[in-house]
Amino acid sequence: MLHSGPLYALTSLLVFADTVLAIGQTSCVAFTSSASTFPVVSNGKGTPILISPDDWPGVQRAAADFASDIQKVTGVSPSLTNATVDKLPKLPSAIIIGTLGKSSLIQQVVQHANLSVADVEGKWEAFVAKEVQNPLPGISSAYVIIGADKRGSVFALYDHSEQFGVSPWYWWADVPITKHSQLFVTSSGCAHGAPSVKYRGLFLNDEQPALQNWAMEKFTNGTGAALTGSPFNHLFYSKLFELFLRLKANYFWPAQWSSAFYVDDSLNGFIADYYGIVMGTSHEEPMARSIPVEWNLFGVGEWDYSENADFIYQFWLNRTEEVKNYETLFTVGMRGDGDLPLSQDGNIELLGKVISDQTKIFNTVFNGTNVEDIPQTWCLYKEVEGYYENGLRAPDYVTLLWTDDNWGNIRRFPLLNERNRTGGAGVYYHYDYVGDPRDYKWITSSQISKTYEQLSLAIDRQADRIWILNVGDLKPYELGIEFFTTLAWDASVWNPSNLDTFVTSWAQREFGVSSEDAVTVAGIIGNVTRWNARRKPELLNQTTYSLTNYREADTVLADWKATSDASTKIYNSLSSDKQAAFFELVHHPVQASYTVQNMWIASGFSALRASQARISANQYADQVEDLFEQDYQLEQQYHQLLNGKWDHMMDQTHVMYYYWQQPMVNTMPPVTRVQAKKQALPGPLRVGIEGSMGAWPGDNPNQCAQGYNCPPPTLTFDPYLPFGNRYIDIGAGGPNTFNYALKSNVAWLKLSSTSGTITNNSSDERIFVSVDWSQVTGVEAATIQITTNANGKASTSQSVSVVANHTVVPSDFHGFVEGDGVVSIEAAHASRNTSVDGISWTELPGYGRTVSAITPWPRGGDEKNFTAGTGPSVEYDFYTFNTISGGGHVTVTTYVAPTLNGLGPDQRLKIAVQVDSLDPVTTQFIPAETPGNVPPGWDGLDGFVANSIVSVPNSFDVAPGAHTLKIWMVEPTVIVQKIVINTGGVLPSYLGPPESIRV
Ligand SMILES: *[C@@H]1O[C@H](CO)[C@@H](O)[C@H](O)[C@H]1NC(C)=O
Repeated sequence: MLHSGPLYALTSLLVFADTVLAIGQTSCVAFTSSASTFPVVSNGKGTPILISPDDWPGVQRAAADFASDIQKVTGVSPSLTNATVDKLPKLPSAIIIGTLGKSSLIQQVVQHANLSVADVEGKWEAFVAKEVQNPLPGISSAYVIIGADKRGSVFALYDHSEQFGVSPWYWWADVPITKHSQLFVTSSGCAHGAPSVKYRGLFLNDEQPALQNWAMEKFTNGTGAALTGSPFNHLFYSKLFELFLRLKANYFWPAQWSSAFYVDDSLNGFIADYYGIVMGTSHEEPMARSIPVEWNLFGVGEWDYSENADFIYQFWLNRTEEVKNYETLFTVGMRGDGDLPLSQDGNIELLGKVISDQTKIFNTVFNGTNVEDIPQTWCLYKEVEGYYENGLRAPDYVTLLWTDDNWGNIRRFPLLNERNRTGGAGVYYHYDYVGDPRDYKWITSSQISKTYEQLSLAIDRQADRIWILNVGDLKPYELGIEFFTTLAWDASVWNPSNLDTFVTSWAQREFGVSSEDAVTVAGIIGNVTRWNARRKPELLNQTTYSLTNYREADTVLADWKATSDASTKIYNSLSSDKQAAFFELVHHPVQASYTVQNMWIASGFSALRASQARISANQYADQVEDLFEQDYQLEQQYHQLLNGKWDHMMDQTHVMYYYWQQPMVNTMPPVTRVQAKKQALPGPLRVGIEGSMGAWPGDNPNQCAQGYNCPPPTLTFDPYLPFGNRYIDIGAGGPNTFNYALKSNVAWLKLSSTSGTITNNSSDERIFVSVDWSQVTGVEAATIQITTNANGKASTSQSVSVVANHTVVPSDFHGFVEGDGVVSIEAAHASRNTSVDGISWTELPGYGRTVSAITPWPRGGDEKNFTAGTGPSVEYDFYTFNTISGGGHVTVTTYVAPTLNGLGPDQRLKIAVQVDSLDPVTTQFIPAETPGNVPPGWDGLDGFVANSIVSVPNSFDVAPGAHTLKIWMVEPTVIVQKIVINTGGVLPSYLGPPESIRV
């Protein structure tokens, strides 16, 4: 040990206090002075801030925020004044802010101090900040903050503010500002070059009900804009654009369904440009005009370029004129009205004409500017991608905006021969969606590990000119949004294994929690997003998770409960000024998601228990009703937070879908009740067992094939059951109170309890049965007799058969062992891992439905692939005792992530699976799609995007014994989550059997 305990603790605390406020940024702020710091506020005095009157108004505005942020942190308001070279104030020191090529003050500093700015000059949005001696005549020292351009200066200022302690979300998620009486910057300062992605944008979309109702209440007198009724005016946008800039986002697509940015408020366009936001319009709204709203207001004739070109041309021309002095990234091309495909035949020629006419408009409006210098994008959304694949091209200088499938799986990345376009490429990505197979727009359900995997691939494949994220109502996707903008700002900071530090730094910045609690918060966020991503809450039903097999539903609920408890514990430990932020960002999503999940599972149990003639059906039905009420209460709690600041923000309905579209009202999941006062026909005793939907005594369709005169239930055991035991449920068939007793006829069976009482209030008891294997050789049978004694009534009884099979693994075997007729393996738990050409199967921690996933990493550049059996591989040793129906074969099902064939038709996703020395079997698991469409198997409530998994089954002839499974890389970007080897016992479930025991 190098440090004594207390000293070490103290040092790490100081380090912690200095570094926690940065997420992936260079750190240049300190709260204590040293030889290498420059004071911002010290001894109650703020260092004066100087700016140039000829700098961008947007930089002037951000500088005022900067000064005000310093005041919020320290209580001291530094002066912010315009300075010109001929009228310099006499100051010992100053903070000087300015933009290269714009600020005459900064130009003077560069000359006077002979400052080299070569590292940033001419670089998009770059900045440098550091202490400079003798920056100007009469000023001995200054901290100089220089932007290479307008946004470079703005981002530099907000970068510092964030490190001072002002979260980008201080207003939008009520993150409190931690006070410091002293504030310093390091003399060496901060710098950043051009960002990884040039245009980093958010798209507010499907804004009704939540965002729109909220904004109507908060930013209007209740009526909205005269022509559109939209609440999205310049007051709203001032708040929004400040957030954008604090997140270092620069590009915006406004909400479109009942608003029209330039019509709603004549100040909107001005405000965007003033703040420094590049305006766009969505994928389906060309030439800065809103479709459908503006078209419905002002359009004459059809929205059909084959019929109505003259009018539409003028419609576009007018807006282009109107915005020509604002920074705009024009969407070009055209879709049909209502975000639908164009309806005519000959769409390709028509779209060709549309695009060439749009070029004509640019040439007319920006006369004298090269049309190639006007930022333009053509979004290859849905069918439009098909037109592209079928040969339609936009001019080289138009950015091709590739899209995901609306579910976070990017459909196509630029191929090698598509990379030399001057316009480059970008990605339109979704955290929120309205459409097939079902809307998801209620709560956070995207994993940052997945966002990272897909978007870092976009960086690799040079889809980096534009990233635009559909964020629905903005809230409650705060963390995911910031991850997106942070990755876009500097993708080089992040890799598969440091994503958790994004969340821990975020938790420390937002809630000031200890590093230990930050890890807990990262775990909570990881769980909530994983569980909401593996099946979106909107897609849940009564039996999504198996109610009887693998304790799946029980485990899901227990995990939710543990996560919810952890969240409650942190919530309660926070000072009250931090609780609102924690509620919005963490606690509400946990509670609300848990409630909905619990409601569906309880609904499922009420139906199942009723079919089993168990009165506990009614208790589950009551639970559903309580949870349905609780769901509303949580929404209310959100709405009442901080005197109603976020009223309506949780208006989104989310329970019970009748088709893909949101329900018009939340509907309670179905509940099933039995007559509470009547005894079941077979008597008061009901017996259920793990793995069966049947119930005994009496008849039940799930007892045996014929559904009557069935034998007693059978519990089977082997030493490698993942849970180590099985359960018997004793239930009540009616209102009677009774005593029960269990007795087995062998010494080797152990029961967690052998007697008890069933009453109306505790009508289900679970008894765990296990085997003392030291007393069992080979296969042995036993019987458990359950008898009841209901006061005065004749006793009833039910027997349960037991079969115990003492399977034995050779002592020198190491690996996964078959239990319960299956070997289930988490992909990350390989026995061996072999790299080839520097590529190896690498864990993506936290990714996917269960634990994590593996993918070949690095991705190996273009066209890197292998024939089966030659590439990187992972091996899993496993041991089996059975084959399916004794037929000599097993099924190996590889669970892969539902990513798409984004590497083009020549590199469709493939994987090879091999057992022992049998031939490796290669599978292309995502079928080829027709151009512009999703592949077969994608859609539907049981499609791979709803299930968030693709199962790749292969059959192998394998005798019982020790084996090795190998997974070979064939094509890059394949993501494997789990492997299930069925030796005959696999039962239906959502996540597959739990992981097998490893020896
Ligand atoms: C500096 O001058 C500009 C241009 O006149 C003006 O818009 C701005 O408000 C002034 N800033 C301060 C801090 O006085």
